[in-house]
Amino acid sequence: MSLPHTKLHPSFGAKLLDTDLREIEPNVIWKLLDLMDEHAVCAVPHRVPLTNEQHIHFSKMLGPIERSAKKIAGTSKRLPFDEIIDQSNLGPEGNIYKDGDRRLALKRANRLWHTDMSFYRIRGTYSVLSAHIVPPEGGNTELIDMRAVYRDLSDTMKKQLVNMSSEHCYWHSRTLGGGPSPLPEEKASRPPAIHPLVIENKRNRRKSLYLASHIRSIRGIEENQGAKLLEELNEFATQKKYILSYQWSVGDVLIWDNLATMHRATPFPDQKYVRDMRRTTCRESLN
Ligand code: OGA
Ligand code: MN
Repeated sequence: MSLPHTKLHPSFGAKLLDTDLREIEPNVIWKLLDLMDEHAVCAVPHRVPLTNEQHIHFSKMLGPIERSAKKIAGTSKRLPFDEIIDQSNLGPEGNIYKDGDRRLALKRANRLWHTDMSFYRIRGTYSVLSAHIVPPEGGNTELIDMRAVYRDLSDTMKKQLVNMSSEHCYWHSRTLGGGPSPLPEEKASRPPAIHPLVIENKRNRRKSLYLASHIRSIRGIEENQGAKLLEELNEFATQKKYILSYQWSVGDVLIWDNLATMHRATPFPDQKYVRDMRRTTCRESLN
């Protein structure tokens, strides 16, 4: 029997009705993974947000966790855990970042459609985002089912994409998103990674289009042609019918499969309200 849930969108997304991730037993995890294979996104409400330790403990059951060891200039940590990515608009002292702060500018790039950690050779698999403080307006997270997008592409396009790969670079999306140019040592710390444009879930064989604002070029075709193809794919993928818009409540945990979806943050008055969101991300294993 699958875990009790309702649907968030006609093609994907489940909301668990009766599951507390603090209490989930390792032997129930496979049910959650089955649900993720089917729905690609899973929302799990809690009355009280998970502590950082509970968040990490749960995420480790989904696979190896990516740890942030690479520092970005001018950043120190509000949350002292290498496993947790601070997606809030708060600085190390807990104050709202001022407009124009480099660190805020980098975070605002999350407003572009992307998938997490595609800029690493070992790709991100599941992300687990936990809501600690949500603003009274704005700040939804939007997600797209990239399996539905792939399914709906024309046969001609599907043929064209076979064996095509693209180059993903963290700094590309930061710059596109209005962020600062990287310092040379920052640039060196996150070199680009190459991945196929069409990927397949090995368990259910569903194919997915692997797009992200991190993509800076398509390999093997002329630059302008690559840019045109990317634009066409992005336009197709971001049609309204594919989008799930998730409105947060404090304590919600949203899990998404980065190999089956794209997502983005939506704006909110980030000089006025606090939005405290914390993320862990699992990655593929090395073998
Ligand atoms: C992320 C992300 C979107 C949001 O945490 O990876 O893109 O709405 N977040 O905060
Ligand atoms: Mn993200």
